[in-house]
Amino acid sequence: MTRPAAVKLVEVGPRDGLQNEAVPVPTAVKVELIEALADAGMPVIESGSFVSPKWVPQMADTGAVLAAVRRRPGVSYPVLVPNAKGLEDALAAGCEEVAIFAAASESFARRNTNCSIDESFERFAPVAERALAAGMRVRGYISCVVACPYEGPVAPAAVADVAGRLADLGCYEISLGDTIGVGTPAQVVAMLEAVEARLPVARLAVHFHDTYGQALANILASLDRGIAVVDCAVAGLGGCPYAKGATGNVASEDVVYLLHGLGIRTGVDLDRLALAGDRISAHLGRPSGSRVARALAGKRH
Ligand code: HMG
Ligand code: MG
Repeated sequence: MTRPAAVKLVEVGPRDGLQNEAVPVPTAVKVELIEALADAGMPVIESGSFVSPKWVPQMADTGAVLAAVRRRPGVSYPVLVPNAKGLEDALAAGCEEVAIFAAASESFARRNTNCSIDESFERFAPVAERALAAGMRVRGYISCVVACPYEGPVAPAAVADVAGRLADLGCYEISLGDTIGVGTPAQVVAMLEAVEARLPVARLAVHFHDTYGQALANILASLDRGIAVVDCAVAGLGGCPYAKGATGNVASEDVVYLLHGLGIRTGVDLDRLALAGDRISAHLGRPSGSRVARALAGKRH
């Protein structure tokens, strides 16, 4: 399989990144970030989640964020929904795309959604059906595709099984998440081989957290298998305040630099993206988590 000529980037910073911030980020700052990411050319910007505010208070203002964002034509602003209530909120907010999120490990499913994998699919089935009937696109996530923080290594066959079930519900794309960022390319390739036996590579996306610094290597290995959709978070936003040493998603700026260096098109303006990342990092009071953004900022001074 040859590498793709173009990659679709799915910017998840405003959701996967900011959901982990210990101090709440004001709605206006989220709106400015999302608009700056669209201005930089990001085609998909995950803008929040309609989940229980008791579980994730950081995303409680998603409705207000979506009401305020000036939506750019051609840009998609998906949100996560765990259940029927979340979907109703997404419909009310005028969302055109939602994502449902499953896990390949039982313990993680329970910690993240308070139910077993089977029970999560009982919940998702009517959610996906209603979303599709309303004309929405539905994306599916799988957490713990390499390992689970509670159970250790996860079998590639378990990931393939959950991927097949999400596809059966009508998910147009399945994002494969190394939630704790421990995977190395050989493990990722073994997992992808199992999933590809069930689904065409064109329906797969990769979602790497960068805890162990392996994300770019894993992305390159995925590109070599023809994967053409990559999730990333500007400034490497994220990291769980309760999991010592855990970091966020791979930084969008680093992914764009890698892809452009390989001659792969993204449609993203790296300088504008880096400025958006610098601005949110300044708001959060810490240096950008992107090596590329820090190098570019150094050159500007
Ligand atoms: P539960 O406590 O079992 O559910 O949580 P419940 O139905 O008993 O509801 C509990 C309370 O939450 C009730 O309120 C509900 O009304 C309310 P109360 O009656 O106590 O006042 N509630 C809601 N409120 C607003 N919106 C909703 C909603 N649903 C219930 N949609 C539940 C089950 C699934 C709701 C909960 O576990 C939850 O919200 N989980 C979300 C966790 C989450 O957002 N995790 C992060 C996203 S996944 C991720 O980051 C991984 C990913 O990035 C890929 C990777 O890296 O691996 C995607
Ligand atoms: Mg994630």
